[in-house]
Amino acid sequence: MKVLITGGAGFIGSHLAFYHVQQGDQVILLDNFFKSEGAIDEDLNSLLASPAVQLMKVDMTLPFAASSLLPDLDIVYHLAAINGTSLFYEIPYQVARTNLLLTLNLLDALGKTTVRRLVYASTSEVYADSEPVGLLQIPTNEKTPVVFTQPTNDRFSYGTSKFMGEFLCLSYGRQSKLSTSVVRYHNVYGPRMGNKHVISEFIQRIHQRETPFKVYGGDETRAFCYVSDAVKATALVALTPSCNNEVVHIGNSAEEIRIADLAQRVMDQLGFQTTIIEQGRRSASVSRRCPDTSKLFQRTGFKASVSLNEGLEHMIAWQTGRATAFPKGSA
Ligand SMILES: NC(=O)c1ccc[n+]([C@@H]2O[C@H](COP(=O)([O-])OP(=O)(O)OC[C@H]3O[C@@H](n4cnc5c(N)ncnc54)[C@H](O)[C@@H]3O)[C@@H](O)[C@H]2O)c1
Repeated sequence: MKVLITGGAGFIGSHLAFYHVQQGDQVILLDNFFKSEGAIDEDLNSLLASPAVQLMKVDMTLPFAASSLLPDLDIVYHLAAINGTSLFYEIPYQVARTNLLLTLNLLDALGKTTVRRLVYASTSEVYADSEPVGLLQIPTNEKTPVVFTQPTNDRFSYGTSKFMGEFLCLSYGRQSKLSTSVVRYHNVYGPRMGNKHVISEFIQRIHQRETPFKVYGGDETRAFCYVSDAVKATALVALTPSCNNEVVHIGNSAEEIRIADLAQRVMDQLGFQTTIIEQGRRSASVSRRCPDTSKLFQRTGFKASVSLNEGLEHMIAWQTGRATAFPKGSA
């Protein structure tokens, strides 16, 4: 198979590329290296060393030539986006504009290709504001209402643009008869996720022996999903006809944990103990997040299998320089 991954130099995109290379597929990565985390680091270089991987530097906010960039493809995974909570507040207009434009330009380009399958990467942020209005059920399934209460909230720069992305891709798919699915990721973590994520930040600060250890929103919960599980689930959605024209939640519902308990787990794994002190909630985020992944299981037979302990172990090994993101010699 030949697959294209937009945002392919980023965190999830690079792991998805690695997964497909292991399956014997040809992979094209499209990226403009918006973030320093998306830069060509040692891990990405090891992936690019594979003859099965091709990288194209393209700013997708500008219309691009479909015929030369998108040859006979089997699957397009659309992961390119400006992502990262602090950016939602710092550059809200750029976040919304970029995420909309790159999706519109991709869909315009797809009209000139023979691609058979499109998977759009969306997020749990599209329903985050259902909590304050009392509409959030945990675990959360795909029928949950998408809620954005006020246009003055900069946080919605990301969620609204991702929801429009869902709408644009699904309506484009129905109209053009291109099989299209939306996957909503829920707290994916792993090597190359960037140093602003709560897990990488905890590892770094605990590794530096911060004492006492400060935690923001310690009573909030998240269900963390290791990236190898997330990319396997994504590829299965792409290959499953009954996922056409559907939204599917991807995450690890078995691993919901309080943020303060997560800090304790990382301390246990790094062999360091100190007092945890609560600092209050840092940003307007949901108090609890856990996906209902039964639709994913019913349609694809997939259930996340990497436990939080196992995932943290990989993550710590990578972050402390004892492991590579993609096992050497296997790409
Ligand atoms: N990581 C998560 O837990 C999570 C959760 C929910 C949704 N998502 C979604 O999954 C996708 C991948 O997320 P990620 O964590 O790998 O993010 P990421 O930031 O690591 O990857 C996104 C990539 O898109 C690229 N990009 C941005 N603007 C571009 C442009 N104009 N042209 C071309 N490329 C551009 C960036 O350079 C980056 O490499 C995103 O669409 C994100 O919204 C991720």
